[in-house]
Amino acid sequence: MIIASNWKMNKSPDQAEQFILTLQKEIKKEDQKSFIFLVSALYFGILNKIFSKSSFLWGGQNCYFTDQGSFTGENSPLAMKQMGATYCLVGHSERRTLFFEDNAIIQKKISALLNFNMTPILCVGENLSQKKEGKLKEILKSQLQFVSHPQSILIAYEPVWAIGTGQTADEDSIREAVQVIYEILNNDQVSILYGGSVNEKEMNRLLQIKGLSGFLIGKKSLDFSSLLNIYKQIKNFESK
Ligand code: PGA
Repeated sequence: MIIASNWKMNKSPDQAEQFILTLQKEIKKEDQKSFIFLVSALYFGILNKIFSKSSFLWGGQNCYFTDQGSFTGENSPLAMKQMGATYCLVGHSERRTLFFEDNAIIQKKISALLNFNMTPILCVGENLSQKKEGKLKEILKSQLQFVSHPQSILIAYEPVWAIGTGQTADEDSIREAVQVIYEILNNDQVSILYGGSVNEKEMNRLLQIKGLSGFLIGKKSLDFSSLLNIYKQIKNFESK
């Protein structure tokens, strides 16, 4: 199972370095490849050195859709790749709402990442009013409309109402979303992560949901003991 950490705009470079070095000692090499750290591009230089000595996977939280040009403040997916990143989040709800990214831009980012042999982690999910209005399928359809290579990307189902709210989605909502994603993509082999207030107390029930390939964790991925606890519960579940 994949344990993807979305650190967002948190941790100083020193704290990030310390976190990874300490975690590396706790996790066996063969298990390290279950972890994907999505970090600020500002840390790539520092973390690349540490990550290259571990089996942890890592990447960015956002990128631009061309490799170079006059795009002040943006990060090139090619530069990210050359610094060692192999994953990148695309279309996180914070990017969609705070930075006005629409599905057309998100599609271009996915294509750019695939061009550079990186794996996009496409975040999809409905907000609370869309949920109440029964628009799950319609929303997921619009967010997934451009996905032509479902096997080359990871999909993170992150209902907006569950992100950062402490209200982890219930099993039925997640199961329904998984089925809808299979149906829209006409593919039940696609890897789907669940994200939205994932925490150690909810792992037991989240792990029972069929069709999930792992989790995208925000707040709790910043906390060393929480992340370790989540990993241990997943390990325990997998060994049964
Ligand atoms: P959260 O964030 O775990 O803090 O809800 C998840 C995310 O935004 O990816």
